[in-house]
Amino acid sequence: MTDDSPRPPRRHRHRPIYAAAAVLLAAGAAIAVPRLADAATTLQSLAAAKGKTVGFALTSSYLSEPAYKNIADTEFNLVVAENAMKWDATEPSRNSFDYTAGDAVASYAASGGKQLYGHALVWHQQYPAWVDGITGGADLLAAMRNHISNVAGHYAGQVVAWDVVNEAFEDNGARRQSIFQQRIGDSYIEEAFKAARAADPAAKLCINDYSTDGINPKSTAIYNLVRDFKARGVPIDCVGFQAHLILGQVPSDLQANLQRFADLGVDVRITELDVRMTTPADASELATQRSDYQKVFTACANVTRCTGVTVWGITDRYSWVPDVFQGYGAALMWDENYARKPAYDGAAAGLGGTVTTPTPGPTTPGPAGGCAVTYAVNQWNAGFTANVTVRNTGSSPISGWSLRWDYAAGQTVTQSWSSSVTQSGATVTATNAAWNGSIPVGGSTSFGFNGTHTGSNPAPVAFALNGAACVNG
Ligand code: G3I
Repeated sequence: MTDDSPRPPRRHRHRPIYAAAAVLLAAGAAIAVPRLADAATTLQSLAAAKGKTVGFALTSSYLSEPAYKNIADTEFNLVVAENAMKWDATEPSRNSFDYTAGDAVASYAASGGKQLYGHALVWHQQYPAWVDGITGGADLLAAMRNHISNVAGHYAGQVVAWDVVNEAFEDNGARRQSIFQQRIGDSYIEEAFKAARAADPAAKLCINDYSTDGINPKSTAIYNLVRDFKARGVPIDCVGFQAHLILGQVPSDLQANLQRFADLGVDVRITELDVRMTTPADASELATQRSDYQKVFTACANVTRCTGVTVWGITDRYSWVPDVFQGYGAALMWDENYARKPAYDGAAAGLGGTVTTPTPGPTTPGPAGGCAVTYAVNQWNAGFTANVTVRNTGSSPISGWSLRWDYAAGQTVTQSWSSSVTQSGATVTATNAAWNGSIPVGGSTSFGFNGTHTGSNPAPVAFALNGAACVNG
């Protein structure tokens, strides 16, 4: 199993997720969600100003999507492989190593000057089947040491930190009865950390788990382990808190929990943040999610030894959540069409970004009733990615469309997807692709493009679909 096995976009399954929110917004029911004042500010620039990193879990095959790559390139200064450095990917048969997928992640990080975080050397999931065939404790210990020695050795000098052992505890604080626990016994965790230190003396060595974000029996078990390791001189440098959270349930003692670990003399990090909600998402849920993201980023910002926050993916299009929690999703900061969600503003605010309540959007240029257009931009220095959603708010199906707008500040479209875009002077015309020309009544379609800008990058004030003015929003 490798990281580069593409999963098809689940757009068919999730397309309705934001429909309800969009309808609410169009109906004027939107809550005033503050936007980041300086749109050119990125999460990584805000984090860097605080000496921290903002990371994301990367699946390299998604980089072929320009919108994914642009967000990855611009917003983050740390990368972790979502799957590519796990045991099943790196050692598919015993003592035979495959670094193809992991190296792709590492070289993406290096080429963008981003930190590389290693995940995960020992975990009770996603290890290869041959491990199950090892019955003797001494043999499994040898296999575990060999795995760590090779993989951590291969990435030595590249990773800043490793999740050495992942998810070793149950919610009640007992050791999880994984194959490693059962065959090797309690000592397997410290043996793993010792092997990792020997293989890569420079990497920070972390223990990582979920449902440990607040103070509870599970986090206290890890706290006790760290205190014990420190007392006995077993190498350990950091603790990861996955933060796979449920909407509205950020533990109120998250910051206090991070701080108590920091006070033991280890770094802490939010390692796999996402905030899932029941889908389809509505405007109220998205506003709560914004607040949840802000709480998590604030907690890390307030703890000196918190190195940063990593989110477990960029776009809801590819999140693991709907695969595992039926009826839940919409957990990340960009939606399925790469439009930035309020959660992004929450993250930015948590990192100290200035947020302001927005001035009202552009005035509606034409009568409501035919089409509505949402224009969302993610921008950096002189470039930007735009995602445009066109909704059929009229009473007849649309069969073939052409959307026109003018740019007021010299913006130039360079590359588009899901439509064909041409530009003549300031006027841009986007025409449907072969597969998305039909928009049923009440339906929508989205397309995107990259562009360049100089200085400001104001959104177009008016759109016309097949010559008729649309509503903005
Ligand atoms: O690569 C195969 C492909 O060949 C096959 O056709 C397909 C069929 O389902 O599966 C593909 O593998 C999938 C793999 O992701 C790569 O996409 C696995 O089925 C799927 O189970 C696996 O899920 C990963 C999951 O860990 C495994 O438990 C998720 O992508 C990944 O986001 C998730 O990440 C974990 C962290 O490592 C640890 N903390 C929890 C977090 C969420 O579960």
